[in-house]
Amino acid sequence: MKRYVYIGIVAFIVIVTYPFWSAGKAKKPEPKLDTPEIQKLVEKKCVEPKEFMKREHMKLLNQWRDAALRDGTRVYVNSEGKEFTVSLQNTCMKCHSNKKKFCDECHNYAGVKPYCWDCHIAPKEEEGQI
Ligand code: HEC
Ligand code: HEC
Ligand code: HEC
Repeated sequence: MKRYVYIGIVAFIVIVTYPFWSAGKAKKPEPKLDTPEIQKLVEKKCVEPKEFMKREHMKLLNQWRDAALRDGTRVYVNSEGKEFTVSLQNTCMKCHSNKKKFCDECHNYAGVKPYCWDCHIAPKEEEGQI
């Protein structure tokens, strides 16, 4: 009789905690790069190397905003000497036009919610493409 109680308890714990230990494994985001603009690129490169972008894109965006608004600088020269227009909408989101599959998926996973889109225009995406 006691054994069944244990089995019941174990089953109960597994069922109740399942969402927690399965969520991490199942939904790890893989930012999608299959946008028209990125497909056109000869070299599939971001404004800076991928590892840098992964870790530092929020800081880079802050720098861009400050450069544009405080100093009036609208040109960013990257670590390879290549020039980009300082613009969230016309530069970042032109390549990453799949905001939901790219920015949002990663942010949902990390539990961050940038407020930028209160003011900045997000790219138009097909409905249902979540
Ligand atoms: C309260 C409204 C508001 C919010 C919220 C906001 N911005 Fe802006 N942002 C502006 C305005 C207005 C400009 C100036 C546009 C111009 O002069 O071209 C600007 C300019 C910028 C620029 C430089 C120019 C450009 O066209 O992109 C960057 C980069 C930028 N913001 C990034 C961000 C990021 C990243 C966030 C979120 C963390 C954010 N902003 C949140 C209003 C906002
Ligand atoms: C010219 C097109 C282009 C522009 C402009 C661009 N990106 Fe990227 N981005 C890419 C490509 C291509 C990759 C993949 C790079 C790689 O795999 O080496 C990437 C990678 C990234 C990554 C890393 C994704 C991962 O899998 O970890 C982030 C974050 C990112 N970009 C954010 C931004 C932000 C923010 C901006 C604007 C400041 C921006 N990108 C501008 C094309 C672009
Ligand atoms: C590889 C995953 C990944 C991708 C792709 C990604 N982000 Fe992020 N982003 C993060 C993480 C993680 C944080 C939180 C970092 C922290 O708090 O230190 C973050 C934070 C931010 C912040 C600061 C938000 C805040 O409240 O502090 C902004 C702005 C931002 N991301 C913009 C973007 C934009 C725009 C894109 C798409 C072009 C993008 N990110 C794509 C992972 C990603």
